[in-house]
Amino acid sequence: MIIRDLLQLGYEKIEEFNKERTAAKLLLSGLLEMSYSDMFINFDKEITNEKAEEYLELLDFYVLENVPIQYLVGSTNFYGRRFNVDERVLIPRPETEYLVDKVIKKLPNDLKVLEIGTGSGCIGITLNLEKNYQVDATDIDEDALAVAETNSKINEADVNFIQSDLYENVKGKYDLIISNPPYVSETDEVEDSVLFEPEIALYSDYFGTMHLSLIILGAVKHLNDGGMIILEHGHKHGLYIQMFVSHFIPEYRAFTLKDLQGKYRYSVIRKRGSVWKRDK
Ligand SMILES: C[S@@+](CC[C@H](N)C(=O)[O-])C[C@H]1O[C@@H](n2cnc3c(N)ncnc32)[C@H](O)[C@@H]1O
Repeated sequence: MIIRDLLQLGYEKIEEFNKERTAAKLLLSGLLEMSYSDMFINFDKEITNEKAEEYLELLDFYVLENVPIQYLVGSTNFYGRRFNVDERVLIPRPETEYLVDKVIKKLPNDLKVLEIGTGSGCIGITLNLEKNYQVDATDIDEDALAVAETNSKINEADVNFIQSDLYENVKGKYDLIISNPPYVSETDEVEDSVLFEPEIALYSDYFGTMHLSLIILGAVKHLNDGGMIILEHGHKHGLYIQMFVSHFIPEYRAFTLKDLQGKYRYSVIRKRGSVWKRDK
């Protein structure tokens, strides 16, 4: 069978189950280890029956059981780079990519950065490579750290990984503390595909606020003068963070910002009246 015909079979299966059409080409390009453009250039190339069967079987896992396509392919794209992903780590989301893009475009160079809860390593590795930031990246989960370390190697980044429950094994001070922590509440409804992702990456007590609160409180003694905390959070957490900061660390101020869908999904927390070292 040629690539074109196999992809057509994939599209038909996807349509039958009313799923994301792009999944068919994402899975096939991943399986053939070809970029989309290489795949389309080689549309008339023959592939083995075994590969074709493997493709259709994997596609069944997607359409029938909702296994995320990125886990089936074993990788995803984040800020133009390939990151390996499997059931040990959360699949990086476009909202996180958007946040990282804002950091890259708006913050100065040469910052010392701590990322808490690195998962696949997508945030820390991208900031190291795009901004040359000196990054320490933590995760409580050794399995997740193993994935992040592999991703750091394949992308030729220079990130220091630390196994740590929040700040437990963190010694230094930083200009930026950034985190996309677990913030889903047990009471939230989640899509079926999310059930394949690690619970430790998703859920946080007290309606999803526990990790956010502990990261904010602990940051105070790990921030350099003029430093900042940047958090990704649920769309219902913005007001909570504003009140938490003004009550527990009133010398700081939280600004809550919208994502591309217009939802309040990020907070920037900074000491009132502070400026970057290099702005002084
Ligand atoms: C929502 S995922 C974010 C992963 C990645 N940074 C991203 O944005 O795609 C949260 C990560 O925090 C880690 N985590 C959970 N509890 C933690 C804790 N107490 N200390 C450090 N990391 C923790 C999880 O293992 C998971 O990798």
